[in-house]
Amino acid sequence: MTEKRSLIWAAGAGVVAIVVLLAIGLSIHWFPPRASTQAASIDHLYHVMLFVSVPIFVLVEGVVLYSIWRFRMRPGQEEQDGPPIHGNTTLEIVWTAIPAFLLVALALYSYVVLSHNEKKRSNEMVVDVTGQQFQWTFGYPHSSGPETKSLELYLPTNQPVVFRVTSKDVIHAFWVPAFRLQTSAVPGQTDTLRVTTNGRQGTYPVICNQLCGLGHATMRSTVHVIPPAQFQAWMTKQQGPAVPAGADPATVGKQTFTSSATGCGGCHTIADAQTTGTIGPPLDKYLHGHDAAFIRQSIVAPNAYVEKGYPVGVMPQNFGSGLQPGQIDALVAYLQKVSR
Ligand code: CUA
Repeated sequence: MTEKRSLIWAAGAGVVAIVVLLAIGLSIHWFPPRASTQAASIDHLYHVMLFVSVPIFVLVEGVVLYSIWRFRMRPGQEEQDGPPIHGNTTLEIVWTAIPAFLLVALALYSYVVLSHNEKKRSNEMVVDVTGQQFQWTFGYPHSSGPETKSLELYLPTNQPVVFRVTSKDVIHAFWVPAFRLQTSAVPGQTDTLRVTTNGRQGTYPVICNQLCGLGHATMRSTVHVIPPAQFQAWMTKQQGPAVPAGADPATVGKQTFTSSATGCGGCHTIADAQTTGTIGPPLDKYLHGHDAAFIRQSIVAPNAYVEKGYPVGVMPQNFGSGLQPGQIDALVAYLQKVSR
């Protein structure tokens, strides 16, 4: 085969490889749903990067493979040296300038996307995000009175939000894949992260994305993106009494225990609640004979007393700050009831 023909073949194979790889890259849904306006520009950025980098990858790898095959050593050439080459200044300038131009162009584009995504918006809702081994607490400040606390994140649709992210102990990372954004939660420091929810309702995971200790993998929560009216109703309910007038505190406590927001049942077995977790002590057995004060301490300051054979520090430390006082009272009432 002549050199020209083999080059044509190589170029043809390269084009086929580019088309096939781009088709694979574009046909697979790599990402979770897009739940923020920022997510759309991040995904667009990704696709532009994909379009630029696949041909470059194929070109570079293709030249490497072609050279290995074309200039391979043949029998009888073991003792031969290659021809003395000084180099080619023009070629070197070209193959430095083109990648440099591409790199700068992509970096500029990324910068434009980043600054657009981080731009301050009007009517921003402030949400305080606090990481603590191994749970998140979300706080909604009001113009007066205390913040409304929650163990799960609730946001209205089509709402610009600014998160003020910090940590009470070690470095965590606040990550919502559906928003395509994350930032570190650093103790002693407050970082802002801006997100604008889009019109899409749904529940998406909140994930700690920084190895932060034994319970790192369990440091997850949920974000509920709901219509504004529903959000207002949720907020009103959060600000009202945890135990509605006339309700049995133990019944509310059982609901709190089994809810996904607290996740108590994921770690503790209670026959009455039909939970089967084994990370922490089975409570109807271990709480037997303990009074309300002990139960309350075990919820709000779990490291004050840790049952033998169970790991220290795995139980979230933030129930005291993330739950309403009435919810804790209800939990205590329920746990007292089942441990009797
Ligand atoms: Cu917090 Cu990992």
